[in-house]
Amino acid sequence: MATVRKAVIPAAGLGTRFLPATKAVAKEMLPIVNKPSIQLIVEEAAASGIEQVIIVTGRGKTEIVDHFDAHPQLEESLRRAGKEALLREVMRPSQLVKLATVRQQRPLGLGHAILCARSLIGDEPFAVFLPDDLVDSERPCARQLIDVYERTGTSVVALMNVPREETSSYGIAAGTVDPMDGRTVRINAIVEKPAVDDAPSTMAVVGRYVLDPAVFDYLTRTNPGRGDEIQLTDALAAMMVDRGLHGYLFEGDRFDAGDVTGYLLANLNWARRTPRIWSAIVRYVEEHSGKVPKRDKR
Ligand code: UTP
Repeated sequence: MATVRKAVIPAAGLGTRFLPATKAVAKEMLPIVNKPSIQLIVEEAAASGIEQVIIVTGRGKTEIVDHFDAHPQLEESLRRAGKEALLREVMRPSQLVKLATVRQQRPLGLGHAILCARSLIGDEPFAVFLPDDLVDSERPCARQLIDVYERTGTSVVALMNVPREETSSYGIAAGTVDPMDGRTVRINAIVEKPAVDDAPSTMAVVGRYVLDPAVFDYLTRTNPGRGDEIQLTDALAAMMVDRGLHGYLFEGDRFDAGDVTGYLLANLNWARRTPRIWSAIVRYVEEHSGKVPKRDKR
């Protein structure tokens, strides 16, 4: 079985849920405490054993590439000032993985964004990380999926149970859960954003995948679907019939950092690791709870 060495991070979307913040700033660069959210993603990739990451970018996303590049002038200035801890933080992004980028000229959908990375992936299995989905877990979420891929030999998607009324916001998968671990799912149906009444289960696909390279052929044959975009879910549904597909109800807490509320909760989650910041937040909440200001009318 080929090992999973490469990953694709599609980051060419327009980020409309976060406007106006994302008018001129890539949403992947918005910080979680003091790191751009995409750095948490690349750290998860490196901790999962990924060696090369391909970021699919679009207009206005060049700052992402700069963040993962070396910055000799800044490094030299921190070195001269003896700021060793900051220097390590500044150098870390460029040392995590080998990085390549590819442009998606038009945002024709997630499936199309993944197709843009085809020549850089070649004929080997690869992981996909959607940078909106931040997962805080002991074992990196992508590592959990790679282990399932190595056990089953099929493509794998990350799954999480959601309230039924939220099923229309996700890809939804149905299938049989392995009674041995209660987490591995042999998928027999997968559909993008179904109407709540049509959802075949409450297991939602979240943004981590391990894919067989055959997915590229299925994506090429996939017609634009929901929202007139080439949907990864449609290609996975076709591939499932021929080659099988598994899901994994991963261990960990997931935050949707592409949504304002999810982003703020992610900040609180990661702020808990810095006692100085966390105690200031707790104090603020204690002092202000119950005192809701008038709605901001601007
Ligand atoms: P979303 O559907 O969340 O789109 O894409 P978006 O534009 O990022 O965000 P909203 O919904 O408008 O606020 C899921 C992932 O696929 C990438 C996005 O960057 C995101 O990581 N994507 C989507 C592309 O790279 N290209 C596309 O054409 C569409």
